[in-house]
Amino acid sequence: MADENRIDKKSQQGEWSSRFAFILAATGSAVGLGNIWKFPYITGENGGGAFVLVYLLCVLLIGIPLMMAEIMLGRRSKENPVHTMELLTAEANADKNWHYLGWMGIAAGFLILSYYSVIAGWSTAYVFKAFFGSFSGASPSEVKALFDDFVASPMSLIFWHTVFMLATMIIVARGIEKGFEKSVGLLMPGLFALMILLVGYAMTTDGYFKGLDFLFKPDFSKLTADSVLVAMGQAFFSLSLGMGAIMCYGSYLPKDVSIAKASMIIAGADTVVALLAGIAIFPIVFSNGLEPNSGPGLVFETLPLAFGNMFGGWLFGVLFFIALVFAALSSSISLVEPAVAWLIENKGFSREKACLWSGLVAWVLGLGTVFSFNAWKNVKLFERNFFELIDYLTANLMLPIGGFCIAVFAGWIMKQEHSKEELDLPGEHLSFQVWKFLVSYIAPAAVFLVFLNVVGVL
Ligand code: PFF
Repeated sequence: MADENRIDKKSQQGEWSSRFAFILAATGSAVGLGNIWKFPYITGENGGGAFVLVYLLCVLLIGIPLMMAEIMLGRRSKENPVHTMELLTAEANADKNWHYLGWMGIAAGFLILSYYSVIAGWSTAYVFKAFFGSFSGASPSEVKALFDDFVASPMSLIFWHTVFMLATMIIVARGIEKGFEKSVGLLMPGLFALMILLVGYAMTTDGYFKGLDFLFKPDFSKLTADSVLVAMGQAFFSLSLGMGAIMCYGSYLPKDVSIAKASMIIAGADTVVALLAGIAIFPIVFSNGLEPNSGPGLVFETLPLAFGNMFGGWLFGVLFFIALVFAALSSSISLVEPAVAWLIENKGFSREKACLWSGLVAWVLGLGTVFSFNAWKNVKLFERNFFELIDYLTANLMLPIGGFCIAVFAGWIMKQEHSKEELDLPGEHLSFQVWKFLVSYIAPAAVFLVFLNVVGVL
């Protein structure tokens, strides 16, 4: 049937203009608030070095093979995640229920986007705070008060959440060529340069080595079953895996691009940015007598201190928060892309209409996160407020479960000749065997064991 139709339909939506454009967009999806906002604060909450080590192992052993699997599945079907699973199960004569995996991805995307937009709204507000000189010469307590007062006001959080969500939807509505590539290409290198600058500043503080020790000296007594789950969840979250975002991007990928190389570049860049954020933030924490485990406000309570006290800090502060907002945008567009692609391809929506509805749903859900920092701060279920619940549900449960299923599908269900063909690693070649082993055994077993550990079975 529709093989040709499908290709026609896809060519209307476009393909990446080059290998570089794909890598840039996928790196744009991976690098975002997860690296600069989330990685440091959860590292702080989970005791530092040992947590970082588990995180790095998860990126290497689960993340990279799974990223290859997601790109491969997307490219083979050239469809949205729901349809990808339908097509590929048909191709492999497998059970139809696999397409629920695509659905779970779309749901996870909405849930993550809902709170992602709120935090990205904070970053947008901080562009203006930096611009109006709010950090200049500020003390740790002033910077903390600035943050606390800001999040205490639901109206301002709603305002910035709305601004960010609108920006996301406008970019997605413009389509992949014009919308994604330009915005990502400009600010990624800028963000990277600013991270290096911040690390340079951190080196001049007296907490530098204490910060490095905290990040890189593992103290395994601090590792709990739950923190291992959080580290694993963060590997999925940070690499945008387990929900079909990367699968969706893979569906626009031309045949001649090496999936293995692209995956290593994307995962490498993502990891470097997260580590740079940690190396910049923890020295500031220790040299100012702050607490590493102060939670989601950590980056907003530390980096302004650097900008407020370094030479040229006004300019760098403004540029940094602008770059952070763009990094967040290039991630948020990938959170909603699976849903938008599905609405266009299956429901006949126009791109604009698909964006409008997706944005609206995620915006409404985001209000729950807005109130988690003020009016509903103490409304808790399972000891977690609304934001913490959504974060736990998505990053620690839905993404790893999605990743588990994708690994099983790629390793066990999909015909080996198809994966060989897509990955273009010769079958007898060691690299293919290593990938196959990691994706068939290590990744699913690791997710399974971590879950068992958390529920107390191990
Ligand atoms: N990887 C993004 C970050 O680190 O900020 C967040 C994200 C984007 C997660 C896309 C999942 C996703 F599908």
